[in-house]
Formats: sequence, C-alpha cells, structure tokens
Amino acid sequence: ATYENVLVEQRGRVGVVTLNRPKALNALNSALMKDLNEALRAFDKDDSVGAIVVTGSEKAFAAGADIKEMKDLEFVQCYKNNFLADWTGITSIRKPIIAAVNGFALGGGCEVAMMCDLIYAGDKAKFGQPEIKLGTIPGAGGTQRLTSLVGKAKAMDMILTGDMITAQEAEKAGLVARIYPAEKLVDEAVKSATVIASYSLPSVQMAKEAVNKSLELSLSEGLHLERRLFQATFATKDQKEGMKAFAEKRAANFTHE
Ligand code: HXC
Repeated sequence: ATYENVLVEQRGRVGVVTLNRPKALNALNSALMKDLNEALRAFDKDDSVGAIVVTGSEKAFAAGADIKEMKDLEFVQCYKNNFLADWTGITSIRKPIIAAVNGFALGGGCEVAMMCDLIYAGDKAKFGQPEIKLGTIPGAGGTQRLTSLVGKAKAMDMILTGDMITAQEAEKAGLVARIYPAEKLVDEAVKSATVIASYSLPSVQMAKEAVNKSLELSLSEGLHLERRLFQATFATKDQKEGMKAFAEKRAANFTHE
C-alpha cells in the first residue's frame, strides 16, 4: 500500500515506516497518525515481517502533534471525539518496534517514540516535552511513560521547563538504548531489527509483552505472567529447535511456530 504521510519499505524480514511530512518537521496531524497506524497494522499482520523500525528524517523524528491543526479545538469536541485516544494504536502492535530517532522528538513525537518498544537515537537527536510552553501538557503518555522510563526528577524537569535533552542525556537517563552517528542510525536499527526478526516470533512477542507489562503490573503479577509465558514457549516448535540446535552445536532454524 502507499500512504500520503509515511513511506513503507520492507528490508528482509524488517518493515520500515518513515514519517514523511517534511514541510512540517513530521508534525503529527490526524492524517499522518492514521497512515502510521495503518502501516504498522499491515506489517503486524504480514507473516514475512518479524520486526518493525519507525523513523523520521535527519532533521526531525516528529516535532510533536500538529499545533496548527489542534489550536482551535474546543473541549467538548476533544471530549466527545476522545481526542488522542486513537494514538494508542501503536501500543497494540504485537511485533517489536524500534524507534530510530534523528533530530527532534518533541511532544507527541517523543510520546510516539516511547510507545515503541525500543529507542535508538542519532547522535544529534533532541527529546523534549515542550507542551507547557504552549499552555497545555503532554497528552499521549508523556507524563506517564517518560516518568517510568527516566524517573520523576528528569521527567518533572523536562515537562515543567519544556527544555530539551540531548541524545547523550537521554541515553544516560534510560530513555534511549543506543546512540549511533545520525547517518548510520537507520541502517543500524534495521540491523538490530533483522537480528530480532531472525529469532522465534512467538517468543519475541512474548518477551515484548512481558517487558511492557512490567511497567503496569505489580512484581508478583509480572513474575506470574513471565513464568506462564516462559512455560508457553515450550509449546512452540521453535523452542524445541532452538535447544536441539544448541545441543547439536549448530545454528537454529526458527520457523516462527
Ligand atoms: C505544526 C509545526 C510543528 C508542530 C514545526 N512545525 N513543528 N507545525 N505543529 N508541532 C512547522 C513550522 O511551523 C514550520 O512551518 C516548519 O514546521 C518548520 O519549523 P521551524 O519552526 O521553522 O523550524 P526550526 O526553526 O528549525 O525549529 C524547529 C523546532 C520548532 C524547534 C522543532 O519547529 C518547534 O518548536 N516546533 C514545535 C515543537 C512543539 O511545541 N511540539 C509540541 C507540540 S504539542 P512553516 O509553514 O512556518 O514553514 C504536542 C502535544 C502532544 O505534541 C499531545 C499529545 C499528542
């Protein structure tokens, strides 16, 4: 499929979605969010895809929700249409998603990156929740996910001052897993995604589910879920193949079953 606001391509078993509204630094208007959600859902359903990379341009991953589109919205409209509720579509994707962030990831852009499972950043990336400067607050998880990821001190500082942090600060704070030179970022993200996609998809999905649930469940519920999912992997052919291959000193050949 082709979309107006995102580019899609498949590299081996990796689906790549590139946010593509360059004239507005990939500001996330409703048309772009619709395209992003549809592109992700299509890769999620596609058996030839095992992992997904979401990226933007070198200048901007996304400079936030589209301020021009939302500036005249009224409360009743927002409430009745549950404004922003559809943004959570990203979190219902069951294959792992790496956000490859170059340039600005601000407001809704930072929030979309945090809805992904893993963030890799280019060395010049900037993260921020500047909504306070616009007279509003984060609305797509910024106050919740950012706080879980970087802790109260950093989250409160970013959200109350609106100041951006660098890729290096974001890595130190635990928001970002890895940093690469900007021009190598997408290739490196695809490389990692290719490794992930080579493993047993059901196990990859269970691992993603268990880690993401750790942000929501108590320790005992989380450990319970983990043990049940771990046990469930023994119902897959891939667990048999993976352990047999180890014992036979050869590479595993996973069939994602
Ligand atoms: C609409 C935007 C935009 C945005 C940039 N543009 N960000 N349009 N919504 N969020 C547009 C600009 O208006 C401009 O259009 C073009 O993109 C280029 O941007 P410039 O500002 O000229 O670029 P630069 O000087 O390099 O500054 C980059 C920037 C700045 C620092 C990122 O654009 C900026 O501060 N943007 C807003 C960041 C922000 O506040 N984000 C949070 C949004 S609120 P023209 O037509 O003039 O060329 C939010 C709420 C989340 O996300 C709630 C839940 C989703």
